[in-house]
This record gives sequence, C-alpha cells and structure tokens, in this order.
Amino acid sequence: MMIRNIALAASAALALGLGGTALTLAQTATPPAPAAAGPASTLRGPSSFAGIADRQARSVALFGEIGKVLTHPRCVNCHPATERPRQTDAMTLHQPLVVRGKDGHGAPGMECTTCHGKQNFDPGRLPGDPHWALAPASMAWEGKSLKDICEQVKDTSRNGGKDMAALIKHVTTDSLVLWGWNPGPGREPAPGTPAQFGALMQAWADTGAACPTS
Ligand code: HEC
Ligand code: HEC
Repeated sequence: MMIRNIALAASAALALGLGGTALTLAQTATPPAPAAAGPASTLRGPSSFAGIADRQARSVALFGEIGKVLTHPRCVNCHPATERPRQTDAMTLHQPLVVRGKDGHGAPGMECTTCHGKQNFDPGRLPGDPHWALAPASMAWEGKSLKDICEQVKDTSRNGGKDMAALIKHVTTDSLVLWGWNPGPGREPAPGTPAQFGALMQAWADTGAACPTS
C-alpha cells in the first residue's frame, strides 16, 4: 500500500513537471509579498457605511461588502458545490481529478499533500499551506446567493460550531483564509486586505449580523 502511494505521488509529481527536488523546495520556498490591490480589488471600510442610519440596513450593506470576498475565486475554489475543488481565476475544475475525501484532505493515494506543500511553491504555480484541505460540503458557497451564504455562515450546525466570536477569529487568523491575500503569482488576491475584511466582519457582527433578503 505504502509503495503504491509513493508511486502514485511520484507519477503525480512527474505529471506536473516537478521532480522530487521541486517538491522538497515547496516546503521551504518563501512566499511572495501580496500583490498591490488594484481598483477592481478594493473593499470599502466599515466607516463608509456609517451614513446608513437604520442598523439592520447597515448590517445588510456591510455583508454585501463582505460578500465580495466570500464569492471571490480565492475562497470559492476551496468552498465548491461538489466534491471537487476548482482552480485559477476562471474557477475551472481542479486538474487532475481530486476529491474531498472523508476529512477534506483527499482520497487515499491522492491526498492534497501529494502536491500542495506547507507554503506556496511559485515555480510550479502550486499554492500551499500547512493544513491545505477542502472545506466541508456544509460550507459550500459556489453558486449560492448572498442570502444563503450569509445564513449558512452564521448557522452553527453548518459552520463547524462557530459562534460569532469564533467566526471572526477564524476569518482573521486562519491561515487558509489569509492565503486568499497571498495566493502566489498568476492568481488575483481576494479584494482589499485581511485587516479590512476583519473590520467589516466585526462591524457586521456589531450591527446584529443581518442577512440580505436575496
Ligand atoms: C485551501 C482551501 C481553502 C481556502 C483557499 C479557503 N478556505 Fe475557508 N475553509 C476551508 C476549510 C478546510 C474549512 C473548514 C475547517 C475549519 O473550520 O478550519 C474552512 C472554513 C471556513 C469558514 C468557517 C465555516 C463557514 O463556512 O462559515 C469560513 C468563514 C471560511 N472558511 C472563510 C474563507 C474565506 C473568506 C476564504 C478566502 C479569503 C477562504 N475561506 C478560503 C478551506 C479553505
Ligand atoms: C496531483 C497534484 C495535486 C493534488 C493531489 C492536489 N492538487 Fe490542488 N492544485 C494542484 C496544482 C498544480 C494547482 C495549481 C493550478 C494552477 O493554478 O494552474 C492546484 C490548485 C489548487 C487550488 C486552486 C487555488 C486557486 O484559487 O487558484 C485549490 C483550491 C486546490 N488545488 C485544492 C486542492 C485540494 C483541496 C486538494 C486535496 C483534496 C488538492 N488540491 C490536491 C495540484 C494538486
């Protein structure tokens, strides 16, 4: 079994044009600085919603801004509708075929760690993180309305048992979330900055975490 896994891993690596050395390097390569945010990839800060007097309407508007991040390819590719991750800014199905597996880390013999290292490996365009894994099916966002995403993200039976404080902690400290702003070359970072995203989430929670109606 072990030998078979190694053979599969080696052939997968070769199929990618990566030798064993490249995979070893993937563990040590330094991640690049995040690309500067262009006009299309900016976020409005919480203060720009201060003019909305009605608290619930302000909360809904804040979630609209948060939604720009949640529905961005950097997040949706790992929160897909099916068992398969997606990849690139065009959100194409992951090649080769890999599946969530029982715990998000892939099927035996084709685990995410076969290719994804602890950090991005830029020469191979390979993203990496110490706990690279697919989000559970209950946390799928692909193809859903902002209303549905909003309700799901707040629902402790679907969000991994996170209350609002835990949810904010997750989105401000989890390395997979933060990777969205440090995705390596050839991928657009998530809009804005992690700090802006965290501030929007906090402001949304403080205004009652209301959800859009559509
Ligand atoms: C490499 C895959 C990956 C990427 C990329 C990723 N996530 Fe996740 N996400 C996960 C996994 C796995 C979990 C569940 C495990 C956990 O809770 O730590 C999760 C859980 C979450 C949760 C908590 C559950 C929920 O649905 O409310 C939030 C919020 C979240 N991710 C936000 C984001 C945001 C925002 C981005 C993009 C900036 C992002 N994620 C990118 C894999 C990913
Ligand atoms: C056989 C090698 C291989 C395996 C196994 C593998 N990946 Fe990938 N993955 C890649 C490569 C290569 C890329 C980069 C493709 C590109 O951007 O051109 C990639 C990209 C991705 C992306 C896209 C990131 C983005 O936003 O563009 C996600 C998400 C992803 N993989 C998730 C996973 C998950 C989850 C697993 C385990 C269930 C996994 N991969 C297993 C090789 C692999």
